[in-house]
Amino acid sequence: MSKSPRSGAPKARNAQSRKGGSRKDSSPKRNFSAKRDGRDGRDHYENRGNRKDGASGVRPNRRDQSTRSAPAPVAVEPIVREHKPTSATFTSPVSVLPVMVEMNGWDDYALLDMGHGQKLERYGKYTVIRPEAQAMGAPRLPESEWKSADAIFTGDIEEEGPGRWKFATQVDEIWQMKYGPATFNGQFMSFRHVGVFPEQAAHWDWVGQQIKKADRPLKILNLFGYTGLASLLPAALGAHVTHVDASKKAIGWARENQELSGLEDKPIRWICDDAMKFVEREVRRGNTYDGIILDPPKYGRGPNGEVWDFFESVPHMLACVRKLLSPNAQFLLMSSYAIRASFLSSHELMRECLDGLPGTIESGELAIRELNGPRLLSTSLFSRWSAPDNNKTEGA
Ligand SMILES: C[S@@+](CC[C@H](N)C(=O)[O-])C[C@H]1O[C@@H](n2cnc3c(N)ncnc32)[C@H](O)[C@@H]1O
Repeated sequence: MSKSPRSGAPKARNAQSRKGGSRKDSSPKRNFSAKRDGRDGRDHYENRGNRKDGASGVRPNRRDQSTRSAPAPVAVEPIVREHKPTSATFTSPVSVLPVMVEMNGWDDYALLDMGHGQKLERYGKYTVIRPEAQAMGAPRLPESEWKSADAIFTGDIEEEGPGRWKFATQVDEIWQMKYGPATFNGQFMSFRHVGVFPEQAAHWDWVGQQIKKADRPLKILNLFGYTGLASLLPAALGAHVTHVDASKKAIGWARENQELSGLEDKPIRWICDDAMKFVEREVRRGNTYDGIILDPPKYGRGPNGEVWDFFESVPHMLACVRKLLSPNAQFLLMSSYAIRASFLSSHELMRECLDGLPGTIESGELAIRELNGPRLLSTSLFSRWSAPDNNKTEGA
């Protein structure tokens, strides 16, 4: 089911780098004011004014700093971790690695080409060029294909950099795409994203397989859920989903996607909260889930300025998540864009946390296969645990 885009003053984005007037269709267009999206939790820089300690969170401008006197020394709290030697030999779950998971694209997404630090992709009706550090080779397609892209994100080589979109012609602020039963809005966001991480489709399918394998209505927790696809697709298969994200904007977008998909009647709890605080609270409440998905950023902020730092936070997060797995849990999936980690480190951490469980842990890289081409683009790491095949009894 496809509904019209959000209401609001319909205007067009400026054509900036190419003549040729309006292409595509005549659907509503709006002036675009790029806002930070949440892929790496960066939208939370905007929220830092809410921090309870009163700190603005805005990164200091070096020039300003040079005119001020040196700041007073601040006592740095050491990070104290409980030192608990593990005696376990980790004989279970069974380990499978490395696993290379390929996402081959679908009707509304294709990796058309890559090279020279950029990728050429199609998101529904738009072709876009975005920076891509992993695209180290040379492009395959002729330059004319790249020149006919609708939008290019430039000036942001480092992910933290202040890049921006340039549009070759008038484009819609919001357009729709589909994946299976889900219809969702695309939008050109700052920090190069468009509201969907297409490589995740391989994980959505895997979660779908787990739901089918369990053959019972699973209770699923989706942490760092962003625009909701990893919540909507399980819900469409009969799961009861709790979706947690720190960004109100992302939750609003996810709810719009739910409506667009005609899945309003599906049981999804939308929770705007810090993921860590939420799981800690759930542990105290004794709640459990049959499946847990977490796709944390490298760095992010909770709604009240809570800091998420992948390397600092993920061990405690996984320890809590372990306690949240129901006695008859079906799966746990963690993907990671923190590329300084290796899938092996992620695997070993997962093994340590899930020690004693039956089933299998697989770890590896998630990659996108280019359309009509032989190459794979590495996007992220993952570790995923699944219960043995006979795990069907509810509430065991
Ligand atoms: C990597 S994206 C998740 C992508 C999503 N799984 C998908 O495939 O569409 C990161 C998300 O984490 C959220 N986030 C960042 N820090 C957070 C925190 N401390 N607690 C909860 N969510 C957080 C951001 O708002 C953003 O939506």
